[in-house]
Amino acid sequence: MSAERNATAIAHPNIAFIKYWGNRDQVLRIPANGSISMNLDGLETRTTVGFSPELGRDTLTLNGEEIKESGLARVSTLLDRIRGQAGFTDYAQVISENNFPTGTGIASSASAFAALALAASTAAGLALSEAELSALARTGSGSASRSVPGGFVEWYPGEDHASSYAASIAPPEHWALTDCIAVVSEAHKATGSTGGHAVAETSPLQAARVADAVRRLEICRTALLERDFEQLADIVELDSNMMHAVMLTSQPRLLYWQPGTVAVMRAVTEWRQAGLPACYTIDAGPNVHVLVPSEHAPVIAARLEEVPGVLEVLQAAPGGPARLVNPG
Ligand code: DP6
Repeated sequence: MSAERNATAIAHPNIAFIKYWGNRDQVLRIPANGSISMNLDGLETRTTVGFSPELGRDTLTLNGEEIKESGLARVSTLLDRIRGQAGFTDYAQVISENNFPTGTGIASSASAFAALALAASTAAGLALSEAELSALARTGSGSASRSVPGGFVEWYPGEDHASSYAASIAPPEHWALTDCIAVVSEAHKATGSTGGHAVAETSPLQAARVADAVRRLEICRTALLERDFEQLADIVELDSNMMHAVMLTSQPRLLYWQPGTVAVMRAVTEWRQAGLPACYTIDAGPNVHVLVPSEHAPVIAARLEEVPGVLEVLQAAPGGPARLVNPG
């Protein structure tokens, strides 16, 4: 394998404060609405890509296990886009490791496709801008667009491939927030987000959710920039509840919550009413992300561990952008 067609990149997953749910273009992943998220420090995907004329096909190894069929096809589609732009046809060997458990509701596709887009485009010799890289990652997994820039990030929905990308709205050090992730189930979810996006439009509530998105984005952006936790907490919970209302009223109906999910939602609501700053947000899975100002994280994490159904609590501060790792 020639040295110049090899690269390694690291990217963090992210937690959405304002959610991406539903696409205007399912293939390109042009979203129905904009979204805002925070990268998760300490959790990461590290991916090495090597293109070589000696390979007979693309291969993908994830956490030491060879992945075939749909997982590999999704990676090859992104590689094809890069090969097309770089003007060569060599296949690639992709080796990827997550330092966090896959399928626990921590969006591994976000860090996976952000790291893949950066490693593969670099290995192919393309020098992409951050916006181009974010748009490229988006085609692999929508939320991956938000794992390319650092810190607190907004994905502008755009209208076509080039205009749908994410950018940082504040660096990681802007606000010491901690995401306390209450893991309530490690089982693999039945319907992944790609399938969920495809049925979002079947809910009579989706149009109202999308129509109100610009307002929620504005409130969330301002709360972030002003470090106003009360405002942030209210809008984050409203947005998560609206997405789950769409999920629950889609065809087929999507219910991601487990008893432990609801127990955490109730506990967090009580704690906030009692004056403890904490709010919840839930993705397409049963685990609950509890956002807190970092000085309260030890107390909240300890309390979360006592909630019935909670298996473990992970903690993540705001994380940086996707980055290349020097060889050796
Ligand atoms: C609920 O980005 O995982 O986490 O583009 O099909 O890979 P694909 O979907 P994905 O969807 C994320 C959905 C979400 C909300 C969010 O992260 O904004």
